[in-house]
Amino acid sequence: MLRRSLFPLAITPLWSALAQNTQSGTPRDEAFWTLLRRNFPLRDGLIYLNAANVCPASLPVLERHQHFLRDFEADPSFQNRAKFGPLRERVRARAAQFFGVTANELALTRNTSEASNTIVHGLNLKAGDEVVLVEDNHPSNLDSWRNHSRRVGFTVKLVPATQLADSPSVLAERVLSALSPKTRVLSFTHLTSTTGLLYPAAEICRAAREKDVWTHLDGAQSAGMLAVDLRRIGCDSYATSSHKWLMGPLEAGVLYVASYRHKEVWPAIVSVGYSEDGKGGIRFLEAYGQRDDARLAALESTFDFLTMIGMPAVEDRVRQLTNHLMNQFSRNPKVQLRTNRAAALSCGVVKADLPAVADLRALDASLYSKHGMAFSVTADGPMRGMRVSPHIYNSLEQMDAVAEAFSRA
Ligand SMILES: Cc1ncc(COP(=O)(O)O)c(C=O)c1O
Repeated sequence: MLRRSLFPLAITPLWSALAQNTQSGTPRDEAFWTLLRRNFPLRDGLIYLNAANVCPASLPVLERHQHFLRDFEADPSFQNRAKFGPLRERVRARAAQFFGVTANELALTRNTSEASNTIVHGLNLKAGDEVVLVEDNHPSNLDSWRNHSRRVGFTVKLVPATQLADSPSVLAERVLSALSPKTRVLSFTHLTSTTGLLYPAAEICRAAREKDVWTHLDGAQSAGMLAVDLRRIGCDSYATSSHKWLMGPLEAGVLYVASYRHKEVWPAIVSVGYSEDGKGGIRFLEAYGQRDDARLAALESTFDFLTMIGMPAVEDRVRQLTNHLMNQFSRNPKVQLRTNRAAALSCGVVKADLPAVADLRALDASLYSKHGMAFSVTADGPMRGMRVSPHIYNSLEQMDAVAEAFSRA
């Protein structure tokens, strides 16, 4: 049940539109999404297309963060701050509901990097063990393992990166065929940030579990865009950031570790709140000392905001935007798509190269200065291209503008 009092005035018209849409069963149209955009602080004229990197926080999140920050600074006494413990537990419960797990399985971290590194450094691996990684992982889930392997002596085996796959099962087989009797951990990215390749996480995790291999999933690009049910996926651990698709506060994140695995992880940082007896569930992995309590409290609005819209509607909208864009790209001979068009193999992240454009960085800079379009660019190498990652605050009209700008490039 959503608590309306959590939302500021800005969201009231959205709330009414949503209630009307829900009552009449009308699909959410452009007017609804235009109204929704007003609940973000994005400046007029900006066509922000870099959700895969950082998303703006919605106004309800920002206002809640500011409210509690002021409250904290106005009275930092223990007495006033006593409220933050219960608030943090409410956030944890809310996040657990959002991801389909229990509160005792969700640690509140600073970001995906920290969450993944907690697993890398926390598992008791030894020389002779093997860790299998998909090469197309973020450094926090690739270099972190390599670095730690040099100290501990376990082996890292890489599954070469791929951009296009025939089907989810072919992709799953590609990963699973790398497992050997020595494999203790398999770590991969749910949806890659480079080309938006969606891995069949449930299929891979199920097969790995049968071999007693720990599966760690990097969910930086899936939480807040896809409806992520961690129990259904069946991974042992999952890491994500609130400042990406979740549109939450900067520098917050989540680490899920399945309860039956808690005894296998050592905390890298131990401070006040650490409990060796495990009674506190996963909290032993987040005893870092003083945190920004206001930010953690604002995380609650993050999950409420998305739940109010509904994750299936969020995913549908993101797919509508990217399909609209990819349809136009496919009619433009200048554009070479590096992203699968099949729904089972992609969502939300589109990588498009313009081979005839010698300097993609210059193009990126000019699209920003002339048209207010903000992308991420890979200037060379096999992943070369402009990355377009729209979210629910973007419009179909903006997708048309991008397609038009690429045809003039
Ligand atoms: C797939 C993936 N994993 C991890 C990260 C790291 O996220 P953070 O910087 O929030 O820790 C990113 C950031 O872009 C990412 O794309």
